[in-house]
Amino acid sequence: MEILKANNLSKKYGRKENEFLALKNINLTINKGEFICITGKSGSGKSTLLNLLSGLDTPTNGEIIINNQNINKLNSEELTIFRRKNIGIVFQFYNLIPNLTVKENILLPLLLDKKAINERRFNEIVKTLGIKNKLDSMPNDLSGGLQQRVSIGRALINKPKILFADEPTGNLDSKNSLKVMKLLEYYNKKFNQTIIMVTHDESLAKRCKRNIRMKDGKIINDIYR
Ligand SMILES: Nc1ncnc2c1ncn2[C@@H]1O[C@H](COP(=O)(O)OP(=O)(O)OP(=O)(O)O)[C@@H](O)[C@H]1O
Ligand SMILES: [Mg+2]
Repeated sequence: MEILKANNLSKKYGRKENEFLALKNINLTINKGEFICITGKSGSGKSTLLNLLSGLDTPTNGEIIINNQNINKLNSEELTIFRRKNIGIVFQFYNLIPNLTVKENILLPLLLDKKAINERRFNEIVKTLGIKNKLDSMPNDLSGGLQQRVSIGRALINKPKILFADEPTGNLDSKNSLKVMKLLEYYNKKFNQTIIMVTHDESLAKRCKRNIRMKDGKIINDIYR
């Protein structure tokens, strides 16, 4: 089942003599349950692509359809709501809220949506992520690996259709990187969670079912293992 489709995406930054075409005519179809790793040199457009697909930024040309909704046709308020309901994002630098506890950080998307807390799902998530005994801690008191696990919990609490991750292990040592990767693999397998991850780490990329390689704003390789 198709869950995301990008048609003729391009992204131009800057104006006139500073104009820079960061993405050039990207076409992409992603099915439910895929685990995709996007690789490519620095500056090849990986983050730009992820930011467009996740609705954080808007394309200069082209369209993105997620779950049959053209997200570029939504106004900013509708898009915010759509994103909270359908999209989870994990960042390299975690982006946790420092003055909220671990538990509050994870539940934040539900609180913002005024949605009831599904205790079973919450407990399942914190157990799988191995952070059950850290719920009352403040993010800054945790190691990087733990903070990233919390941010995965926050990204998953809403049962997003798609989880986007931009170098989620970019700030972690290899042991914690593998831990985070295995958690993502667990959610991909067990819940058929669609995951799109940008990584510089070839050993992690090799574990993905589908590999997309970018160069100079284009997809130069798209292979299934
Ligand atoms: N806001 C911006 N304004 C102008 N140029 C930008 C902007 N964001 C990105 N770029 C340029 O677009 C190109 C692609 O950037 P992008 O961040 O997508 O690359 P990337 O593949 O994610 O790189 P990295 O591996 O370093 O994260 C780069 O040349 C970058 O300098
Ligand atoms: Mg990047």
